[in-house]
Amino acid sequence: MKLDHFLLLALATAAVDGCVRERDIGSVDPFSELAKRSEGQLHLPHLSKFESMLLNSFDNTTVDTWAYYYTHGLHIAGTNRSMAQWTADKWAESGFTSSVVSYDVYLNYPVSHSLSLTHSDGSTWKASLEEDVLAKDDTTSYPDRVPTFHGYSASGNASAEYVYIGRGQKVDFQRLLELGVDLKGKIAIARYGGPFRGLKVKNAQEHGMIGCIIFTDPADDGNVTVAKGHKAYPDGPARNPSSVQRGSVQFLSTYPGDPTTPGYPSRPDSPRVDKSPVVPKIPSIPISQLDAEPILAALDGHGIAGQKVNRTRWVGALNTTYSTGPAPGVKLSMSNVMHDTYTPIWNSIGIINGTEQDEVVILGNHRDAWIVGGAADPNSGSAVMIELAKAFGKLQAAGWKPKRTIVLCSWDGEEYGLVGSTEWVEEYLPWLKASTIAYLNVDVAVSGPLPDVGATPELHKIAIEAMKKVVWPYKGRRDTSMYDIWKTLNGGEIEVLGSGSDYTSFLHNGIASLDVGAGGDGSTDPVYHYHSNYDSYHWMSTFGDPGFHTHVAVGQFLGLLAYHLSTDEIAPLDVTNYGIEMTKYYQKLKKYVAASQYKDLDAVSKLQRKARYHRSNRKLVKHLNSVYRDFGRGFVSQGGLPDREFYKHMLYAPGLDTGYAPTTFPGVTEAIDAKNRTRAAEFVERASNAIYVAAGILASCHDCDNPVVQEQI
Ligand SMILES: *[C@@H]1O[C@H](CO)[C@@H](O)[C@H](O)[C@H]1NC(C)=O
Ligand SMILES: *[C@@H]1O[C@H](CO)[C@@H](O)[C@H](O)[C@H]1NC(C)=O
Ligand SMILES: *[C@@H]1O[C@H](CO)[C@@H](O)[C@H](O)[C@H]1NC(C)=O
Ligand SMILES: *[C@@H]1O[C@H](CO)[C@@H](O)[C@H](O)[C@H]1NC(C)=O
Ligand SMILES: *[C@@H]1O[C@H](CO)[C@@H](O)[C@H](O)[C@H]1NC(C)=O
Ligand SMILES: *[C@@H]1O[C@H](CO)[C@@H](O)[C@H](O)[C@H]1NC(C)=O
Ligand SMILES: *[C@@H]1O[C@H](CO)[C@@H](O)[C@H](O)[C@H]1NC(C)=O
Ligand SMILES: *[C@@H]1O[C@H](CO)[C@@H](O)[C@H](O)[C@H]1NC(C)=O
Ligand SMILES: [Zn+2]
Repeated sequence: MKLDHFLLLALATAAVDGCVRERDIGSVDPFSELAKRSEGQLHLPHLSKFESMLLNSFDNTTVDTWAYYYTHGLHIAGTNRSMAQWTADKWAESGFTSSVVSYDVYLNYPVSHSLSLTHSDGSTWKASLEEDVLAKDDTTSYPDRVPTFHGYSASGNASAEYVYIGRGQKVDFQRLLELGVDLKGKIAIARYGGPFRGLKVKNAQEHGMIGCIIFTDPADDGNVTVAKGHKAYPDGPARNPSSVQRGSVQFLSTYPGDPTTPGYPSRPDSPRVDKSPVVPKIPSIPISQLDAEPILAALDGHGIAGQKVNRTRWVGALNTTYSTGPAPGVKLSMSNVMHDTYTPIWNSIGIINGTEQDEVVILGNHRDAWIVGGAADPNSGSAVMIELAKAFGKLQAAGWKPKRTIVLCSWDGEEYGLVGSTEWVEEYLPWLKASTIAYLNVDVAVSGPLPDVGATPELHKIAIEAMKKVVWPYKGRRDTSMYDIWKTLNGGEIEVLGSGSDYTSFLHNGIASLDVGAGGDGSTDPVYHYHSNYDSYHWMSTFGDPGFHTHVAVGQFLGLLAYHLSTDEIAPLDVTNYGIEMTKYYQKLKKYVAASQYKDLDAVSKLQRKARYHRSNRKLVKHLNSVYRDFGRGFVSQGGLPDREFYKHMLYAPGLDTGYAPTTFPGVTEAIDAKNRTRAAEFVERASNAIYVAAGILASCHDCDNPVVQEQI
């Protein structure tokens, strides 16, 4: 069959600005906007019997109980098997066949650390490196609370003059080099925000720096700061100034998972490779704004002042000029001691068999947290998953039987580098590729009031339908749907998935994926203390989600998705939308090429084919479902991206220098960035082949008189 003859996906519709959405919602008055839309009336679509039963099963009081459980015991990766068993047992009570599976992975745990500043007059100051114990917040005083540290950081000492590197992106380093700032042999002090923290350390290491400290700047808290009149947590919604963001410094954009077993599962006897391509060689330590201020202030008047550096988010809100330094004779001494080990981690898995076992829907959430709490990250999601299992238990008791198998996963080791999910996917890849129709992820289900959804294009339609059926509790109101709030207050655009949570291994094997959560607006909502001891049950029940109603709504949304994906006769995957979204990525790429030195890279036009796609009759349901299931696998190309084979999807990858944020058409885009024309052309070819393969999978249905792909150009 000649593929050229019925081209491609619905690379249809007119040009769309495919730029990353700017989140600027500060000026909208939510209530008047909502009133205009809904006139104070909530109109939900008609719900079926099972849909109503499902939605009504979610209960804020039981969710609160699960949230309390998860946030009152140490559960950093590899430390709490009983929590994994508890999760499996809860799912079993709701009729899921449940088990706990383990992997033996490389992790490291903090032993000791210190950081001190020596002024040129020889006087010294010592950083506290501790978060305050708060009488109002019980888990901040737990004796086994986790020190402030970076997962997968290197052990080592460093003592040297230091340089402020802004957010530590490659462009920041280029600017420092342009300005003639001496980096070699110095310690870096970087600000959180922008790229994934591991990439800040990587960039510092690659510029010959010998250590890295990273601080949280109050400028990232919008108007909710002490300087602007708010009280700090626990007395108010502003950031507690002693709070520290822990987190992994793995080089996430190279590959996730156990650094010592890339591409295969971590068994006790698995061969291990050198981990240095994905973990730092130089030590790093996270610090609070309190600890950062004197360190930055000691650079004032030395090097280039922040205003003159003139880089995005270089100057923050601390009382200092954010000068680059170095300051002669002003030194930092840091020490970071980690315990390296191979140790078991535990995923909990729960299954309800469908009548068609070769079609599977998977839902996942990680369970491990950097701190004893973890009320938002990730255990708001864990509490929701228990409640969701309970809801499906009720449906089963009422006679519902899913057509497709449902698998629940509670991942361990996510925080170090998506370890539990990546090892599991590596172990079951042939089965997953043959059977999975979608992976639904929830990590931080709730850290604020605004719903956020990211997904591959074939899941957009069902996500929007589900959003319209859920009542969303916005600041005490209960007369709006999730869809209305999302559309009115949060941009109304389903985001492109990058990386940073457990959907990554599914997405990059061509499996339709979705991620949902709710967060603050970053400027007026209570500040979420990400990866800090203050991401606690007390914060959640006082500021994040008092009453746990947002938890309920996120659970209902996921429940509806899982219900339809597992139950509908025809799998509700809207494959035509792939074409529409791809057109947006294509427009963006075209602009990028036009702005580059490869204006003549006209091969890019190969990527544009316009075609229209119809669905006619649905007689051969089985075949159609398998085509929908398999279609996305076509976008995966053997060999992956240059120097990072893990990332195989030709349309998406986490940005090389962002780690979290996605790049579309990554092979071509990054080749242009690297000024490698040959490679750009090679990836145009590979991306267009991948699109042909996906289209070919759809086209196979032509024979059964189902989707008809019609050429327009
Ligand atoms: C595991 O977590 C549970 C629930 O939070 C807690 O009660 C228990 O003490 C934790 N176990 C360990 C070994 O820390
Ligand atoms: C902060 O408040 C001021 C004054 O109300 C407003 O103009 C500004 O947009 C707000 N900034 C953010 C980030 O919300
Ligand atoms: C900062 O850089 C921008 C371009 O990136 C330039 O337009 C602007 O004039 C610069 N400002 C200063 C103060 O140098
Ligand atoms: C800011 O720093 C300067 C110089 O170090 C000091 O004189 C001033 O009092 C500080 N301002 C505040 C608000 O702390
Ligand atoms: C590293 O620094 C710590 C703290 O200053 C010190 O105790 C330790 O001896 C140093 N280790 C080495 C190898 O220099
Ligand atoms: C589910 O299906 C699997 C594979 O066919 C089978 O081994 C298992 O016993 C089934 N579980 C239940 C509870 O029926
Ligand atoms: C559940 O919601 C009800 C009604 O809003 C509220 O009174 C109750 O306190 C909530 N339960 C919890 C545990 O927050
Ligand atoms: C450009 O890309 C090609 C193909 O991927 C590769 O073989 C070559 O080494 C690259 N050139 C440079 C200068 O990196
Ligand atoms: Zn998380």
